[in-house]
Amino acid sequence: VKKVLIDCDPGIDDALALTLAHGSPELDVVGVTTVGGNVELAHTTDNALRLRDFLGMSAPVARGSGQPLVAEPVNAPAVHGVAGLGEAQLPAARTELDRRHAVQLIIDALAAAPGEIGLVATGPLTNIALALRTEPRITEWVAEFTIMGGAYTRGNRTPAAEFNVLADPHAAAVVFDADWTTTMVGLDLTHQARATAAVRERFAGLGRLETELLNPCLDFYGKHPSYRELGPAIHDACAVAHLIDPSLMTTVPARVDVETQGRFTTGMTVTDFGSNDLNALVATELDVERFWTTLAAAFQNAEAQ
Ligand code: BDR
Ligand code: CA
Repeated sequence: VKKVLIDCDPGIDDALALTLAHGSPELDVVGVTTVGGNVELAHTTDNALRLRDFLGMSAPVARGSGQPLVAEPVNAPAVHGVAGLGEAQLPAARTELDRRHAVQLIIDALAAAPGEIGLVATGPLTNIALALRTEPRITEWVAEFTIMGGAYTRGNRTPAAEFNVLADPHAAAVVFDADWTTTMVGLDLTHQARATAAVRERFAGLGRLETELLNPCLDFYGKHPSYRELGPAIHDACAVAHLIDPSLMTTVPARVDVETQGRFTTGMTVTDFGSNDLNALVATELDVERFWTTLAAAFQNAEAQ
């Protein structure tokens, strides 16, 4: 069983990524940290707490950064709803936040178990950049590091930039420049993970998980104009899936640099597959069938509490 820390901004697909991680026998979630992104930090943090109670997770939840390092905040309430989980109304949290800042929780957890914990980031990279600046040795301690973010073809929030990278491009630059290999599960990969009607049928009969979380999240998410035709892309679950089973996707070594001062291209993840100065593994192709089978099995396992 792999231990995993999840830094996220729930967020509909973040919620599904947490559910996947929690329900996967291959993973043990040892901490959840929050960042402002899809919606403001107060909501992403409250959602993470509610999700922990709803799913019956035991991992600590710590609040992180509400502001990007340099850029102005950008949110996505039109995609995720004003409170971040579409039409889902999970019961109010019964449990407390960890007293530490997210950055401290990340550092403490990795320091206490060098080589044992994978780190997955599914929101803007502010907390991860601050953790790197505070304790650079996390690059030595982490077992693997995967993000949902970026794209090597085109963006979603702008033609050049994917949302998580655009939301804090300076943090993303720090993260890709750090002394580790970043596995970039970007839009080129995640746009293959569409929750179509046929996929949704595989989530039928899951009780409260289906009626109180999956349906109200995915019904709302699927109404967004960018998702109406092909079905909503479950981006963040793809990053967790990489930890569960790296063979679910093809990854290609590359050099990724983040544009922080483009007139039109800020937040672009400039990807060079021909570089000799590699810093990333870039996900290209998803085994779609096995991905949904993995998700459906984990969701079966993760009944609502
Ligand atoms: C990413 O942006 C957010 O809206 C999603 O939660 C995902 O992490 C996709 O660009
Ligand atoms: Ca996210």
